[in-house]
Amino acid sequence: MKTIGVLTSGGDAPGMNAAIRAVVRAGIFNGFRMMGIRQGYSGLINGDIDDMNLSSVADIIHRGGTMLRSARSDEFKTKEGFEKALNVLEVFGIDGLVVLGGDGTLKGARELSNSGIPTIGIPCTIDNDCGFSDFTIGFFTAVETVVDAISKIRDTSTSHGRANVIEVMGRHCGDIALYAGLAGGAESIIVPEVDFNIDEVCKKAIQGKNRGKLHHIIVLAEGVGNAYDVSKSIEEKTGIDTRVTILGYIQRGGNPTSYDRIIASKMGNKAIELLKEGKTDRALGIKCNHIVDIDIKEALEMKKEFDIDMYNTARILSI
Ligand code: F6P
Repeated sequence: MKTIGVLTSGGDAPGMNAAIRAVVRAGIFNGFRMMGIRQGYSGLINGDIDDMNLSSVADIIHRGGTMLRSARSDEFKTKEGFEKALNVLEVFGIDGLVVLGGDGTLKGARELSNSGIPTIGIPCTIDNDCGFSDFTIGFFTAVETVVDAISKIRDTSTSHGRANVIEVMGRHCGDIALYAGLAGGAESIIVPEVDFNIDEVCKKAIQGKNRGKLHHIIVLAEGVGNAYDVSKSIEEKTGIDTRVTILGYIQRGGNPTSYDRIIASKMGNKAIELLKEGKTDRALGIKCNHIVDIDIKEALEMKKEFDIDMYNTARILSI
């Protein structure tokens, strides 16, 4: 193998740039020609590809977003689109790939591996919804953003004696809500993994109010349902003025935390090591602070375990 391509696909995540930098630098260190594919699998189909050198990845380790841009490609999932992608790889002489993204990206990586293109996947998503890795690149940066928002909303919540529902991203996974809710001292954390009882949320708000508490923060994972419905129920059942903040895409941007940069750097280097050893069809993850690599099919089948102990801790501490 001589030439390796790198792409970022799906929803972007802070730390993708640090991972691109690591892949490119480690690739060049190991004697490979490195190529960047822009806009994920769409760019692969369209041949939106350029050489990358040491300078191409200078000054990006600390930047959010992805310098290679990202996209969700439906065309790549079709037979025709996939064949076009294989042709483009041949035309550009790319004989190995490192793909950065979430589970959709990894599915693509598996197809490419099965078609004879050595491919390694690196989990990048703010959702932390990959069963094969304790953490995904971007998750802790999103958590920091949410914790910062909770602190700011708590100020105004206290001033007005209101309840504030804060909706966070995560798709079907409650980890952003759980980690940020615990770190931000939220009174209630509502996640898809645990049945939610509106009366329990309301009871806490009333009890808190009765003992002189002025603020009340409810962190709601987007996978549970509508924040405005939750807010309306709280207001009706408690009489406490309640407001909603949907944090949205600010969770996807911003300078990556040190931890995200560190795991991105380690995984980028490891991806090149694996390709050099002739490995393919591997997803990288971090387990108990060690970088691991798993067969992509197995990785995709591994169910994400919700940290119920952490959830219960948050529940105890927010009485
Ligand atoms: O997977 C990351 C994520 O930000 C989810 O948390 C969210 O539900 C989704 O992507 C939003 O997707 P899009 O960028 O397509 O709007």
